[in-house]
Amino acid sequence: MNSRPLILYFGSFNPVHTGHIAVAEAALRHFDGQADLWFMLSARNPFKAEADMWPDERRWALLNEALAGRAGMRACDMELHLPRPSYTVHTLEQVRAQEGTARPLYLLMGEDNLEKFTAWRSFETILDWCRVLVYPRATPESGAPDRAVGGTEAVPRLPESLAAYAHRFILLRGALLPQNSTYIRQGAARPQSLIGHTPADWAKCLQWRGAQAEALREAAREVKLATVGSQVYLRGLIEYSNICRKNCYYCGIRSGNPSVSRYAVTEAEVLTAVENAYRAGFGSIVLQSGERQDAAFIDTIERLLRQIARLSEGRLGVTLSLGEQTRETYERWRAAGATRYLLRIETSNPALYAQLHPEDHRFDDRIKALEALKAADYMVGSGVMIGLPGQTEADLAGDLAFFRDFGIDMVGMGPYIEHRDTPLYARRHEIPTLAERYELSLNMLALLRLIMPTLNMAATTAMASLHPQGREAALRIAANVIMPNITPGRYRENYFLYENKLCICGSEQDAKDNIEALVRSAGCELRYFEKGDPKHYYDRVANPAPVAPSDNKSDGVDHFKTL
Ligand code: 5AD
Ligand code: SF4
Repeated sequence: MNSRPLILYFGSFNPVHTGHIAVAEAALRHFDGQADLWFMLSARNPFKAEADMWPDERRWALLNEALAGRAGMRACDMELHLPRPSYTVHTLEQVRAQEGTARPLYLLMGEDNLEKFTAWRSFETILDWCRVLVYPRATPESGAPDRAVGGTEAVPRLPESLAAYAHRFILLRGALLPQNSTYIRQGAARPQSLIGHTPADWAKCLQWRGAQAEALREAAREVKLATVGSQVYLRGLIEYSNICRKNCYYCGIRSGNPSVSRYAVTEAEVLTAVENAYRAGFGSIVLQSGERQDAAFIDTIERLLRQIARLSEGRLGVTLSLGEQTRETYERWRAAGATRYLLRIETSNPALYAQLHPEDHRFDDRIKALEALKAADYMVGSGVMIGLPGQTEADLAGDLAFFRDFGIDMVGMGPYIEHRDTPLYARRHEIPTLAERYELSLNMLALLRLIMPTLNMAATTAMASLHPQGREAALRIAANVIMPNITPGRYRENYFLYENKLCICGSEQDAKDNIEALVRSAGCELRYFEKGDPKHYYDRVANPAPVAPSDNKSDGVDHFKTL
């Protein structure tokens, strides 16, 4: 028989926020932590106009995320499965059937519920089965009243109709945070009035500097906290090989650069790095390399994937970043354990793409590869370079529209940084200054978080190469993924995509420690042993967009406007 007190906290948690957590903590403190507390998520009422209510799955996912690792707290979706409309008394009946009638039950609610409590169905039965923990209501304006006084149990101020039940009510002590869901939802909705709806509006926002840029980034931060939260996921980046069959004009390891000494990390070294990363708490790893399509390469990757899945018993997320491949290759690697794939579009403007690549690197092939990844059920990542010669704000706004319209789940984007051994170096006078590229990049990250709140976004190494606090800034306003380099040290100097590429040399443990300090200074929380899949992917597969035929347009950008 379970006699441990069980506190039931009913709510729509739309979305859950720090105020709810503070209330729950105060309730658990009342029992010196010797109690359980369930957040009882209430269902969205399909018959009522609740335009403001986020879908059950989204609220459920956010709730679980917020409660992960919190002692004594868990989320309960019982009400989502009970007949509608749901009455508290019916849910309590179910809880009693499940937990036994001897388990002491407590309802946790705000004092603003007391006035109408006698209108609740079978309120006397409810009070017979449960005692009620009442927390004082705090508003964003008033701040939190601190009712903490000496003595033992206090009784809240009750309406006349409840006077006879005073012994069933307990007033919780302690200040509660001035926070409420409406306030957060408005914050999440406000961006549209701030940034507008169209790529033309976004192009203007990209030019904001000073106070306007601050407002943009602050809005992004609010939305980030309300949707993906302050969690940051770790991906260990292994630069597997710098051998590349391509010759992109901006890239230091392009095949046409004879001064690069080419390498491929051995399979044994990859596995050691993976194992160390896994032990150090990395939730996933990224295998990145120049592009190769030969059978030996495809086989090696497949073999590595199977070995990685075996050594981590499938618990380590694996992302590939190995360029354009056929659908069959993508499917083989998917079957061998890779679940995510990064393939940057580099720019969504086909004309600009053509200026950055030799003729046989076709924009359409890149689009087809991204479509093949989607079809092979990968979580699809993409990205662009910011501040390229010839690139306009309208191009960058088009990139944001591309991510949205294609339904990209993860984005890694950062500044373009020139490399002297590349053809594009000749156009170095056409690019914005370092400081300008940095400002533009931060605005891009902030806008994307506002446009696509649930995707995963990386704080890229290129950001750090532009500004010493580049990655912190990215995490603070928008990013939720960080990819420390865990390539075996002896190879690192040969993976110079661009100049001044930051190279933190050291072990997986060192990388992790450095990153931990960096994430903390951005006001975020580093998550270990968690894959941190993008929520956007689950939303996307739950609500697939109609797929437009891929072979009737030569212009990839128009093509996406039809989706
Ligand atoms: N500056 C910034 N990013 C670059 N990349 C390649 N060269 C550069 C550069 N000069 C990026 C590309 C590519 C990824 C592996 O590295 O976006 O997709
Ligand atoms: Fe190869 Fe990628 Fe560099 Fe292009 S950007 S040359 S595909 S490594």
